[in-house]
Amino acid sequence: MTTFMGVDHVGVGVDDVDEAIEFYGRHVGFDRVPFDYTGELPGMEAVAGRTPRARVAMLESSSATPVGPGRVKLVQVLDGDGPPASPAGQAWGEVGVCEICLHVRNVQEVHDALVAAGCASLMEPMSADVPPAGVTLDIAYVADPWGTKLEMIEWTGLWRSLPGPARAEGVNHVAFGVADMARTRAFYERLGFTELLFESVDFFEPMATWYRAPWYDPGNLPAQHMTMPMPAQGAAIEPVVLDPPGHDCRGAWGHLGPMDFGIRVGNLDAAAARLAADGVQVHGAPQSLDVGSGEWRYLYFAEPDGNYVQLVEARY
Ligand SMILES: [Fe+2]
Repeated sequence: MTTFMGVDHVGVGVDDVDEAIEFYGRHVGFDRVPFDYTGELPGMEAVAGRTPRARVAMLESSSATPVGPGRVKLVQVLDGDGPPASPAGQAWGEVGVCEICLHVRNVQEVHDALVAAGCASLMEPMSADVPPAGVTLDIAYVADPWGTKLEMIEWTGLWRSLPGPARAEGVNHVAFGVADMARTRAFYERLGFTELLFESVDFFEPMATWYRAPWYDPGNLPAQHMTMPMPAQGAAIEPVVLDPPGHDCRGAWGHLGPMDFGIRVGNLDAAAARLAADGVQVHGAPQSLDVGSGEWRYLYFAEPDGNYVQLVEARY
């Protein structure tokens, strides 16, 4: 039995891992660095067009809860011309990874603390509930100093945090754009994302200012179809379809900003065999990297829109 365990991490391209470790540790709650690897990343020819050389630091939160179990993976491309630029004109929901969502305790306080630490507020804290089950939440957005959209949610209708101060508590979900919601739902259902937390087809008005000319006509914004398929354990995914579609914002692998994500598995070899048997194209053989504290195992595979996604088995 192959177990898929939700989103393991969101990968973010940075141009200085040390600065990002400092910022994410001090202000975003990712206070642990289970590994910090510099070297070649094999098995990536299909996604990166080469075997990239990079520094990869995995960060996790010691305050992570069952609704914020995901990690952040910082990637600094070291070969070629260094990290590619983030995709121009990305608003939210174009094909490509577009946000990291943190589960937080006290959205207002965490939002204000991040703004004081140098983030730009993109959406002031507000409360909402989401269809079809009316699950309640508090929500806000900031951009980190390098432009990555950090959503903060307190899922008040799902989970009340453990006692403690206002704080970010790990990654709750990753949002990414796709072209066909039914195709994406069916694909990720096979990877364990089976329970629909919400589905919305209305444009989320507080995001309106993110959609700018010349990429968008501010007077005629695209429709947004969002869903949040949850796994039984691990962080969730939030695929988004824009209608009409935005331009392709996947960018080159390793670009600055959020750019890939990993799905945790218990046994990478078994999971890889299962994907292959299901007709999913896996990119080569499972990789095992010695990251000092243990082994980091991963395998990239082809998802329907060409977003950069890997299976991950953490042995560190
Ligand atoms: Fe989100």
